[in-house]
Amino acid sequence: MSKANTRSMLPEGSLKQKNIIVTGGGSGLGKSMSQYFLHLGANVVITSRNHEKLETAAQELNKQEKDGKCIAISCDVRNYDDVVKMYENAKQQLGSIDILMNNAAGNFISPTERLSSNAFDTIIDIVLKGSKNCTLAVGKDWIKEQEKDKSILNIVTTYASTGSGYVVPSASAKAGVLAMTRSLAVEWAKYGIRQNAIAPGPFPTKGAWDRLLPGELKEKFDLARKVPLKRVGEHQELANLAAYLVSDFSGYINGEVITIDGGEWLKGAGQFNMLEEIPQEMWDMLEEMIKSKK
Ligand code: HXC
Ligand code: NAP
Repeated sequence: MSKANTRSMLPEGSLKQKNIIVTGGGSGLGKSMSQYFLHLGANVVITSRNHEKLETAAQELNKQEKDGKCIAISCDVRNYDDVVKMYENAKQQLGSIDILMNNAAGNFISPTERLSSNAFDTIIDIVLKGSKNCTLAVGKDWIKEQEKDKSILNIVTTYASTGSGYVVPSASAKAGVLAMTRSLAVEWAKYGIRQNAIAPGPFPTKGAWDRLLPGELKEKFDLARKVPLKRVGEHQELANLAAYLVSDFSGYINGEVITIDGGEWLKGAGQFNMLEEIPQEMWDMLEEMIKSKK
């Protein structure tokens, strides 16, 4: 099993004077990435629906990280007016916003034919419409104010590219977010706005595991076993990548989606990767069998 390096990758102060909005920043990966942004000197607005959860998270983060300030502003990303209000409030408190990270998501496993129309819409609304709402509200203002050196980072999934059964609303919505990332990377580059995405593999969080691996499924489908590196991701590994992609160090990276999954999706894709299961000692016999057929 490979060993994770969970040290801080960027120099102290790398995000100083950057003001960042992180949707879904009060829990899971959003919270971990927010913590690292604060550690690097950024001010971070964490936003989601549950205000109490956000306030608790902001208090915790402000206690742990002294270099930047964390502010909790609640908002439902499905509602454009709510998003605009959250953005105006964030600007009022911080002056301006430099970076938007679309991280909020909704998801659960289900055979697609069991889904109500509203269930499908709920996921599309949080993931695709929510990312669109935040991108449009923030992007329009940046363009109007002629502000430069702005950046949007979208958190997608590896199945945004491959598709996946049993999470079809999420796969459809994340594919839309990826298309938006690549499209606006070109269209809005002239305004000094970069767009990139990260496609994480399995990074354990309560939000994802409760909905994707409920009950015994956690043991039955140990996700680490699907990964060639034989382990799940550490939050700091993702935070290091996210911090790099929103920082000025990645100023020439635009329209990219970076996969961080230990090789998981490629293992599923490669036609003969199942040969992993063949024990080393069988290969002499197999080689002989193949050669004998000449
Ligand atoms: C079928 C379901 C369902 C389920 C909800 N619904 N759960 N249908 N199977 N398990 C249906 C409901 O019956 C309802 O339809 C509709 O979906 C909306 O449900 P609500 O509970 O009213 O919605 P809401 O309160 O808005 O909550 C949204 C949610 C919830 C998505 C259902 O789970 C949530 O708040 N999630 C946020 C956090 C999250 O999902 N995190 C995981 C991200 S992981 P009807 O027709 O009855 O009205 C991820 C990728 C991970 O994104 C990849 C890992 C490798
Ligand atoms: P999580 O903790 O459940 O995060 C989802 C966040 O979205 C929550 O903070 C939730 O907060 C917020 N949210 C949901 N609906 C919202 C809405 N309508 N408006 C505003 N905020 C909303 O799960 P996570 O694992 O950290 O996921 C974070 C991101 O990583 C997601 O984009 C997910 O798709 C992606 N991802 C995760 C994994 C993984 O292995 N964990 C793998 C690939 C991709 P509220 O409930 O307070 O609104």
